[in-house]
Amino acid sequence: MGNGDRIDPWSSDQSTDYDRIIKQFGLETVDPSSLPNPGMLHRRGIVFAHRDLDVVVGCIQRSDPFGVLTGLMPSGRMHLGHSMVIDQVRWFQEQGADITVTVADLEALATRGTSLSEGRQTAISEYVHNYAALGLNPDTTNVYFQSSRPEVQRLAFTMGRRTNLSEFEAIYGFNGETNLAHVQAPLVQAGDIIHPQLDEFGGLRPIVVPVGIDQDPHLRLTRGITQKTNWFNVNARKDGGMTVALSVQADNASNLGILPGGKLDVGVRATIFDRIEAVLTELGFSDLLLNPKHGTIEIPGATLSDRSSIRMVLLALEREMGGMGLMPPCSTYHRFAVGMTGDKMSSSRPETTIFMDDEIEQMSKKVMRAHSGGQPTVEEHRRLGGDSSKDVAFQYLQFFFEPDDSILDDIRNNYESGRLLAGDVKQICTDMATEWLLDLKEKRDQWAGRLDEFLAPDAI
Ligand code: TRP
Repeated sequence: MGNGDRIDPWSSDQSTDYDRIIKQFGLETVDPSSLPNPGMLHRRGIVFAHRDLDVVVGCIQRSDPFGVLTGLMPSGRMHLGHSMVIDQVRWFQEQGADITVTVADLEALATRGTSLSEGRQTAISEYVHNYAALGLNPDTTNVYFQSSRPEVQRLAFTMGRRTNLSEFEAIYGFNGETNLAHVQAPLVQAGDIIHPQLDEFGGLRPIVVPVGIDQDPHLRLTRGITQKTNWFNVNARKDGGMTVALSVQADNASNLGILPGGKLDVGVRATIFDRIEAVLTELGFSDLLLNPKHGTIEIPGATLSDRSSIRMVLLALEREMGGMGLMPPCSTYHRFAVGMTGDKMSSSRPETTIFMDDEIEQMSKKVMRAHSGGQPTVEEHRRLGGDSSKDVAFQYLQFFFEPDDSILDDIRNNYESGRLLAGDVKQICTDMATEWLLDLKEKRDQWAGRLDEFLAPDAI
């Protein structure tokens, strides 16, 4: 795999060839009509891809528990680009999710040299404060620090046993020069993503991680490791139905009825099969073909749509038998908003984005200077119309500031037909952004001094 085929989570230079990324990494595309109460970013195709989102949609429909895990890098100022994930987190919370927020203070230390105390300060004053203002509900939100949650670090080590340097080289392009603190960061992130499933953090339930596409390598790594730890695999049979197969590994062999010499312990295996049979019968499958010797159970009557409930009961059984019983994380991916200058948005270049606490005047200047999709002269613009796909002000209305789809459509139509000039769209954007920033500031003021409500007990 060449360098251009990789996604580097630590580079600000991200590919926006979303179709290629979907194909190359096997993502599914998001169909907004399959979601209950789709949010603005779903309806507008901005959240464009996912892994296993249907599992979460099932939870929403059945009012089953599920969680969201999101993470923030505690360095720099929070800007519009960061707010997109929080928009989705809030949407999931409204649909019933509990929320866990990782402060990636160890990652910031490892990859940017940010001290833990600096990281803490930035996380709370810059990020948590704005998350509160953006409407996260503290009752079901828990913010924690990587550095003060030993369970996460323990998981990082446990999961590290299931991968190696070659895999890290393939996924991240690490090489002999790579700093070792940097190598640890993805394993800690895998620990972040998995730990809400531990019994002490809410227990077995689907966890969805909404991210920009730059974070997908971590999700691939985490899903791969998770699957390697599972004791039971559930797969479709060629001729219809599903098959459950035991996955015998070095550290579960004796639990699964393999004697030290490699021979089958028929008694232990029979007991396991009784337990599997019991949980599958309880799910409603009566016709089961048991093959204890080969370690397989066929369920002819099961369909693909039964797969996740079958998996769920088997993960619970795995936990009862002493395994970790981990689900692969679900994830969603959003497109990146274009920078105001027409190229990439980056916090190190303030002119490319709007910060959550920008003054109205600063924001207006940036919008006025923003890259536009207008024609060179008014005469041409009236005749040919503007290009909304290149117009930053229009896109910011679409991504951030105009919640009403029909108003947005009107603006697009009027711009593309030449009735609205680029300057008019910029004025609309400035007005909406002014309202948005003032509202956010007012809410920040309301939350000042109360941010502890968002912190987990181990973060206070
Ligand atoms: N790596 C993320 C970033 O650079 C931060 C992060 C740490 C994170 N743990 C996470 C993001 C878990 C999502 C899920 O921003």
